Amino acid sequence: MSLGTNRSFRPGELWLDDRGVHINAHGGGILLHNETYFWFGEHKIAGEAGNLAHVGVHVYSSRDLYNWKDEGIALAVSDDPQSPIMRGCILERPKVVFNTRRNKFVMWFHLEPKGAGYTGSLSGAAVADKVTGPYQFLRSFRPNAGVWPENVPAETKRPLAAEELARLDKMELGGAPRPYYPKQLLFRRDFAGGQMARDMTLFVDDNGSAYHIYASEGNGTLHISQLTDDFLSPAGKFIRVLPGRFNEAPAMLKWRGPYFLFASDCTGWSPNPARLLAADSIFGNWEELGNPCLGTGAQITNTFESQPTFILPVQGKPEAFIFMADRWNPQNAIDGRYVWLPVEFYHGVPMIAWHDEWNLGFFDKK
Ligand code: GAL
Repeated sequence: MSLGTNRSFRPGELWLDDRGVHINAHGGGILLHNETYFWFGEHKIAGEAGNLAHVGVHVYSSRDLYNWKDEGIALAVSDDPQSPIMRGCILERPKVVFNTRRNKFVMWFHLEPKGAGYTGSLSGAAVADKVTGPYQFLRSFRPNAGVWPENVPAETKRPLAAEELARLDKMELGGAPRPYYPKQLLFRRDFAGGQMARDMTLFVDDNGSAYHIYASEGNGTLHISQLTDDFLSPAGKFIRVLPGRFNEAPAMLKWRGPYFLFASDCTGWSPNPARLLAADSIFGNWEELGNPCLGTGAQITNTFESQPTFILPVQGKPEAFIFMADRWNPQNAIDGRYVWLPVEFYHGVPMIAWHDEWNLGFFDKK
């Protein structure tokens, strides 16, 4: 693993890997393993076609976060038409965690079967013995089938009646201005078959428990769902977070007790104002704190022209977190850019401001 010549982050610029190619790891996340960072993300191709998965999940490694070595394709799409991850599917926001109990690397992602738009709303899981893969695809499914959320009143814990289903079928759930959102119907409709799961992240807590955090219920409601000890399945315990608030692109940060979730509004590839949510415990009462962006005009209204994907704790530096976001380019997907900014705490609340160029020394100055 060679140390290259980059010594800073330049958000929104081309970020070249060790071969001089713009890094291709969109909607990604980073795993620190044996003092090396591994960045996993969506490999995109040129043009609008690049919004579909033609290659798979790309992985890069780095010791210093500035210089990245191409480690190849960690999870490849399949040429088998029977495979759920067939070439041409939608495979988004892959995240990898390390399961110390089994000594396995576990990847989760948002999966939409080929040709069905975003209607599938599935989660995919894959596993590997080696951090860079190859990852073996395990299955795709909707999480939490047959499980009621922890934080709903007992009287709502019943599947939809026929007339409620008929009412729901007549409603338009997407689009702006947003119509009435049926807060108590969607999770009940999906009880038997599993909950919808789109934008997602993974989070491993200090005690080793892992959580899958995904946009559910027609993107209107986030779910935080505990994983089994091997991290391969939902453990059967989940909560709903801010029903009807349409938070997506979740990214988790924990610092000195409280949990913070960065998220976005729901406007497809177009950026929008970010949101910050907080709770004292992961299954606690999540409240919305507002927009975490500092600055003026569009910096605040479009989150520095980006959408969150992950929060990276920097090794060896307390209180050092990097906000990772994507500046999408849906017309030429491969040219999506990376917006990484240092998290700054004000009275214990994480916020972000723009920097044309910065380095990890930023965290030493405080
Ligand atoms: C965004 C989402 C992306 C992708 C896109 C498709 O809202 O965060 O991951 O799904 O919509 O339009």
